[in-house]
This record gives sequence, structure tokens and C-alpha cells, in this order.
Amino acid sequence: DARLAVSLPGLELKNPVMPASGCFGFGDNSFATKYDLNLLGAIILKSATLDERIGNPAPIINVLEDGALNSVGLKNPGLKVILDEKIPTLRAKVPTLPLIASIAGSTKEEYVTVAKSLSDSGLVNALELNISCPNVHEGGMLFGTNPKVASELTRAVKAVTNVPVYVKLTPNVTDIVEVAQAVAAAGADGLSMINTVLGMKIDVKTRQPVLGNGTGGLSGKAIRALAVRMIYQVSHVVDLPIIASGGITTPEDVIEMYLAGAHCVSVGTAHFSNPTACLDIINELPAKMDELGISSLQDLIKEVRSAH
Ligand code: DOR
Repeated sequence: DARLAVSLPGLELKNPVMPASGCFGFGDNSFATKYDLNLLGAIILKSATLDERIGNPAPIINVLEDGALNSVGLKNPGLKVILDEKIPTLRAKVPTLPLIASIAGSTKEEYVTVAKSLSDSGLVNALELNISCPNVHEGGMLFGTNPKVASELTRAVKAVTNVPVYVKLTPNVTDIVEVAQAVAAAGADGLSMINTVLGMKIDVKTRQPVLGNGTGGLSGKAIRALAVRMIYQVSHVVDLPIIASGGITTPEDVIEMYLAGAHCVSVGTAHFSNPTACLDIINELPAKMDELGISSLQDLIKEVRSAH
């Protein structure tokens, strides 16, 4: 359906829907086995770090009534396995699908090394710079909560890469516009927002936190209004494409994100209640657009952004 096509730096999307980082692993976890992945708009991979990480102590997921808490802690097999095995295996299954590799690290040097290797590999179409993981004690969110640090990291990654870089922002800040402006000035090609909100749940019987790590990242419907507000504010002052995330579950949620200023969407937590969430949204979006008098997503983007 041509009405769903969206064109972004590095990404020619036949539709705007992709699984959010983490939720499909490297195209090899259970959510990635439910249908032909070539039907997606793109796939955002789990964040890669230089060395393997085993992540945080179990339990690392708690599904809530209106969202989820996770404390995964950037668990991944490390750059070498990802480059030599994970991405080539996925690439063979989805030869023409846009792939976005997510990168994370504890130091600027680690981010730069991982970013350069993935960019040089020629296997991915864009990078998502994850400066917003709330579940690690070094790096992660510490890079994304300080505009100066975020901008230096973005500049350093841009200097060694030749694919577009989308910077994933954290909502755990007082002024997300300030961080967005800083990474835009440093050369970011786009933004991805929002990552999870630092949260916690305590079991009243055991009197203990439900997650092994204590705190975790809150996602899903519970944070959708926060995501809409932040995307709206950022898109009014920063002229960069936005990959929207935060509780998107239905085609109507997708349209709301477009009205806030988004260019495409990523879906994560919805998979816990519906493993085919991305595909269902893709299939149901045209009827919702008809109902709302939207002729094409590309036109909607133009209309919303020129009114800003
Ligand atoms: O909520 C999150 N969990 N955000 C991230 O960026 C990474 C993930 C994890 O691995 O903990």
C-alpha cells in the first residue's frame, strides 16, 4: 500500500512500523517467529556493546496492567558475534528490509568502536545511538541526560560512520528539548524517542522489588501520553525525523504520533499482549487512515511539520 510508504535518511520504508530495539533481539527471539519479517517496515536490533554482556539478575521483566517494567541491562552477545553471526543470519532472511543497528556502551570509545564496525560492515542501513538505557550503572542514560555529553558522543559517532545516526533519547530528564537540540547541532540525522522511564514495583507480600535489579524501565501504555508530549515539543523546534515509541498499540496510536510530529513508529510492549502487534497495525492502518481522511503518511508528515 503506497499510502504507507515513508522516506527517511537511509531508510526507504514501505510502511512505518518496526519492532522497537530489544523486542525482536537480532530477529531470533520468539516475537520474531510469528510471521514473515519482510512484511515489517524495518527492524531495530537489540543494542550491541563491544563485549558480551550477561545483563542484570532475574527477574528482568514484569508485565503490568498498563505497560511493563524491564531491567534487561543490555544483555547481548557482543559485537563480534553480532557482526559475524547474528546480523548475517538475519540479513539472509530479509535481503532488502531496512535494518537499524542499536549501539550502546560504557565509554565514548566503546560507542565509537561499535558504531564504526557496524557502519563499515555494510550490513545495516542506519544506526540507533542508545544513550538512554536506564538499567546500567555505567554509560547508558548517563550519556543521554547531559546535553553536552550527548552532543560530544553524537559528534564522535558521526565522525566514524557513513550511515544515518538516529539518537535514542531518554524521557528521564527535565528538558528533553535541550538534549534534542544538542544532538541535532552535533550532526544527528534523526531522533528516536522515547526510551523507558525509570520505575519500580514492589510486591506487597514479599515486600521486595519484583525485579532482580530493583528498578527498571517503564514502557507501554502507561507512558504514551509522556511520549506524545515529548515528541510534540521536540518536533516543534528540531527539524529532524523522529522514530516514535512509547505505548503504541493500535493504528490510532500511530496516527496520534504522526500528529505529534513523528515520521515512523516502533512498537515494543504491545508484543506482550499481542505477539503480532506490528503486523496487525500495518494491516489495519489503511482503514484507520480512510476513516480519518488521511490520504498518505508522507502527506500527513508534510502537513503536520509545516504547521509547526
Ligand atoms: O528499557 C530499556 N531496557 N531500555 C534500553 O535502552 C535497554 C534495555 C535494557 O537492556 O535494559
